[in-house]
Order: sequence, then structure tokens, then C-alpha cells
Amino acid sequence: ICKLRDIFASPEKFVDQRVCLAGWVHHWRMDGKRLAFLELRDGTGFMQCVLSNELCMTYDALTLCREASVRVWGTVRHDARAKGGLELHADFWELVAPSTPEIEMVLTHESNPDILLNNRHLVIRGRRTSTTLRLRSLITQCFREHYFQRGYVELAPPTIVNTMCEGGSTLFKLDYFGINAYLTQSSQMYLESGIPAVGDCFCVLPSYRAELSDTRRHLAEFHHIEAEMPFITFADLLDAIEDLVCDVIARVLAKAGDLVRDLNPELVVPRRPFRRLTYADAIAYCREHEIYKDEEQKIHFEYGDDIPERPERLMTDQIGEPIFLTHFPVSMKAFYMQPCTDQPDLTESVDLLMPGVGEIVGGSMRIWRYKQLMDAYAREQIDPKPYYWYTDQRKFGSCPHGGYGLGLERFCCYVLGVRHVREVCLYPRYRGRISP
Ligand code: 4AD
Ligand code: MG
Repeated sequence: ICKLRDIFASPEKFVDQRVCLAGWVHHWRMDGKRLAFLELRDGTGFMQCVLSNELCMTYDALTLCREASVRVWGTVRHDARAKGGLELHADFWELVAPSTPEIEMVLTHESNPDILLNNRHLVIRGRRTSTTLRLRSLITQCFREHYFQRGYVELAPPTIVNTMCEGGSTLFKLDYFGINAYLTQSSQMYLESGIPAVGDCFCVLPSYRAELSDTRRHLAEFHHIEAEMPFITFADLLDAIEDLVCDVIARVLAKAGDLVRDLNPELVVPRRPFRRLTYADAIAYCREHEIYKDEEQKIHFEYGDDIPERPERLMTDQIGEPIFLTHFPVSMKAFYMQPCTDQPDLTESVDLLMPGVGEIVGGSMRIWRYKQLMDAYAREQIDPKPYYWYTDQRKFGSCPHGGYGLGLERFCCYVLGVRHVREVCLYPRYRGRISP
């Protein structure tokens, strides 16, 4: 059995050759009694198969439905009209397993979003969704290649934990053999603990947030690409994030530029260095550009306000290029963030905002002095006990270090020009959805 990927990769080897294809009926159309067109999808590509005469006069042909699985034998031919320039002239085919006409009811354009989400196990077979999933896999591969090429080690921290990283309000609690535990919000702290062992390290793992906000970029379960680096400065951290984003986009374009540009014609590797704004600059920008904390009542942002999703996106879209938003106040950020030496009320923190999506990366330098960390626990009313292993790092050979977390789904939205993070998930998890 030939894979369509291989045929399209080197057509010269296959044209005028007889092959067997196996896959699913993506589309099926009878043209009169003696001619039919079967668009076959095999998971690696699509090809039109032409069935003529007795091949389309059998019982199986007359009752064939979309999504039935089939094997088709025939000769690969050039055809300028066919997608990809090739088609298969079938000389034999067999039904492997039938489908039913019900499929047409589910997979119509008129189906409402809930029906589509309940039937996502069928929707993913569609051209656009299957391509999106394939590209997500490729993007993940590019992240790994980026890290491995730069000598990072991939670690696999647990995702069932008894510490919180990003504040108690979005923790999923669970009963772990009679003990209270959480689904991890971030693997950052475990990566930090790994740097004295392996140096620069990264992970690609799910993180969980009990997010109540129903926005197009929030999920309850998302894939988190996190990295941690010892002996770096804040400037090095920003460089590393720029390098990551630009290098991964360049890799994706090199591997699958045509496929990506079909979905997102505008994608280019962003220009470096990225624009830098401090949190204070961003508040001033919003005040000057009619971006309000409360749009209806035209209430301005004040220093100290959190900039929520919508205004943040408005600002990013107006500016129209990637933005490093830096130096958030201590009071707004997680306990572990390193305060600035010259301005101890600010942190060495960064969010990367991308046009169309908003925040895709959050990172910072980490508090690395023992006493400072103990003070931060106290300030945030965190019981240091379960964090003993995190604290220990500050007792046994501490060093300045920093890292970041990137939301894979948000990154995919940016690269593929997709509006909603749900669309780049196999089966998205968000409040109100647990199946399929
Ligand atoms: O900004 P966050 O909360 O930072 C952290 O978790 C750090 N501990 C990461 C680190 O330094 N290792 O999350 C990082 C990124 C966000 O910028 C966003 O892209 C993504 O994770 N993210 C989400 N993506 C989808 N749905 C959610 N509910 C998300 N929450 C965060
Ligand atoms: Mg964040």
C-alpha cells in the first residue's frame, strides 16, 4: 500500500505506475451511471480516484457513503485539473468497512458549533481540521528541534502535584489516594530544580487551569512549552524567547511553507529585536490610545490594574508587531519572580504579545536567594512546607536563573492564523466541555 505523502513527494517515481491506496472516502460523486469520482484521504494526503464502468455499478458503489474505508488499485496519472496535479485511474477497488448517510447530517456547514464540538471525533477528519492537527504536530517537532539543537535536555516533570505556581484561583484540586493534590499549572518549578542536574532544560507537557474566563485563548488544559536556564541575565532571557519564536517560525516555514501559507498567507518570521514596552508604558499607551478598562463608561486604566485579554489584544493589534511587555509590579505577579535590583517594586518579568492573539509567553528571572524566597512565601501567605524541594535549591548552590512558558495552542493560532485556541486542539477542554 502506497502513502499519498510519498506519491506527492516524488511524483516522477509513481506516474504511470500501478499502486494500491488505502484510506477513507473524503468525497464521493457519481457523474452519470458510468463514471464516479472518489476523493480518497489516507491520513497523509488526498487524491482523486476515477472509477468508470463496472467499478461504479456495483452494490457497494451505489450505496457508498462519505467516510467509508476503502482500498483502491489503479494507475497514477498526471492531470492538470486535479489538486496536486495527479489522479488515480482505478482498475479495482474494495469496500473495507461502510459508513452511513448520517455523516452528512453532522458534517455540513450549517451545523452549529455545539454539534460540531460534540462530533469533533468526526470533524477532525475534515481537510482543514486534519491539516491543522498535522501542522500542530510539525510545530511541536520544530520546538523540540530548536531545543535539541541548542543542547537543552528534555525533562518530564509530574503533572500531579501538591504545590501551586500561578496562584490558587485557577487550581484544579483532586483526591490523590486520600491526599489533596492539584493538576499542575506549570512545570516551571520542577524545571528549575533540574538545572543543577542537566543545565538548560525544557518540557512539553499539559498544564491545567480552572479558568472561568470564556475567551478565545483560554483552555482548562493546554500544552505548555517551558524552558529554564542557569546563569543568565534578564537580557539573555529576552534573547532566548526571541530566538525561540523566530527560529521555530522559520523552521515551520522551511518544512511546510506551502501548507502554512494556505492557512495564513501573511506569516513571516518576525523582525528582531522585538519592541519592548514596560508595564508602565503599556498603561500609558492604553490611556493615550482610547483603550479603556471599561469601554462603556470610558474608564481609563490606572497603574496597578491588570490589563485583561481584550484591551491587551487591542493594543497589540494597533502596534501590529510582537511586543515584550516587561517589568510588571511585584504585587501583580507570581511569588517566585525576581525583583529588579534598582526598583524592588518591579520584577524582571516578561510577557510576549503577538498580534491577533495577545500573550503567548510568560517568563521571568526567578528569586534565587534563600531569604528573599522565604519573604515571598510569607508575603503571599504560602505555606513553605510542600515547597521544601524548591527552597532547597536556594540552599545548595543557588544561581541566578530564569525561564518562560509558551502556550502551544496560542502559538499555533498565531502561526496558522486561527482565531480560537479550541480549533487547534484534538479535543479541547474548557469549562462546560468534557467530551469527546
Ligand atoms: O503566563 P503563565 O501563567 O506563566 C506560567 O505559567 C509560568 N510559570 C511559565 C514559566 O515561566 N515557565 O503561562 C504561560 C503561558 C501563557 O503566556 C499562555 O500562552 C499559556 O501559558 N497559557 C494558556 N494557554 C491556554 N489556556 C490557558 N488557560 C492558559 N494559561 C496560560
Ligand atoms: Mg501570563
